[in-house]
Parts: sequence; structure tokens; C-alpha cells
Amino acid sequence: MDQQQMKQAVADAALEYIRSKLDNDTVLGIGTGSTANLFIDNLASIKGHINATVASSEASAARLKSHGIPVYDLNSVNQVDFYIDGADESNSALQLIKGGGAALTREKIVTAVAEQFICIADESKLVHTLGQFPLPVEVIPMARSHVARELVKLGGDPVYREGVVTDNGNIILDVYNFSIPKPLETEARINNITGVVTNGLFALKPADVLLLGTAGGVKTLRAE
Ligand code: 5RP
Repeated sequence: MDQQQMKQAVADAALEYIRSKLDNDTVLGIGTGSTANLFIDNLASIKGHINATVASSEASAARLKSHGIPVYDLNSVNQVDFYIDGADESNSALQLIKGGGAALTREKIVTAVAEQFICIADESKLVHTLGQFPLPVEVIPMARSHVARELVKLGGDPVYREGVVTDNGNIILDVYNFSIPKPLETEARINNITGVVTNGLFALKPADVLLLGTAGGVKTLRAE
């Protein structure tokens, strides 16, 4: 199985995972990225059974609507039962790096509301220590240089993601060469820098389940 086939396999597994749990009140949170897109396309096959979705990006909302799947504002729903999204990295505790698609803040907001976060990823995303993937940080534009200097003090090499404006009108700094052995501490510490909206570490609220695409099939991992 190549990477694309693994992504499709976990998107299929996520559909099977939620299909039997859907009822008339279920609200699905939908993530962003190429793996989430495959899941969205799968949802089209059962759209008659989907009560409501909320999306973590304008792009995902548009894709859902293009399939005729109902999309709601997060403020219009009382709960999110399942959040299904990809990741850029996961460790064995299902702490993640996300934000490769610049949607980290809305992804984190939907995660905060969700009863259960089902992460879908191919096996290249599973690492021992987070940080090989540069950590995305969403920043208020006027704070860009200040935040960059603070990130250097923490030991990272922040790089401005040229030409990218988030759905919230902000910019992204990607922090390179930044090994993250203590994700909980690092997530809180970066979020405490004035001007940071949020960072792409999902450690304070990690995934509940990781459906991992491997050459031998899809494995279901739960936090250790
Ligand atoms: C977007 C994300 C994505 O979940 C992450 O980048 C993984 O994307 P893909 O499924 O395309 O590998 O966090 O902000």
C-alpha cells in the first residue's frame, strides 16, 4: 500500500467507525487536509443519515456543501459527538502536531468541543518524539517579529509561511529544528506568548483514537 492508499484506508475505517453510531442528533466535526478530504468524500455516500456537521476550515465547509452535506456554525450546535481529522505527527500518547494546512486554530476549537477525537493518518505520521515536522504557530500579524524572537529563545527556528493567511486573518510561523519531548509544557508555554493565537500541538487534549494506515492494514491505537 502506498501513502495515498493508506490515507484512503483510514478514511474508509473512520466511516465504518462512526456509521453505526450515528443517530438523529449526531453532530460530526470535520477536519482539514488531504486525509480529511477523503473522509468528506466518503460521507457523501451516507449523507442522508447525517444530521449536522461543523467544519474546521472554509475549505472543508465548501467541500461538505458541494456534496449536499449540511454544515452548521459551531455556535449553532449544542455538542460535537465525533471530530475526525488528520495530523502531521502523532506520538504513542496520541499527542499531535497539526496545522500543516494552516487550520490549526479552528481544528483546536472543534477538538475542544468534541466528545471524541478520531485521528486518521498514514504510518509516516507516527513518531517517537514530536518535532520532526515543523510546529505551526498561528500569530496575530502585528506580533510576528515579537513571537518569532520568543520562539528563538525557546530553541526553535521560526520561519514565516509566505503567502498564507489563515481563515481567521492571521499568519503562520513554522518552527523548525524544535524537538518536543514535553508536549504538554511546550503547548502551554507557546500559547502564553502574547500575540500567539494558538500552536499546532494537540497535547492538552490529544486524540482519543488513532486509525493508522499501515502496509498491513489499518491499526486502531488508543492513548498509552
Ligand atoms: C491541517 C492539518 C491536517 O490535518 C494535517 O496537515 C494533515 O494533513 P494531510 O491529511 O493532508 O496529511 O492539521 O491544518
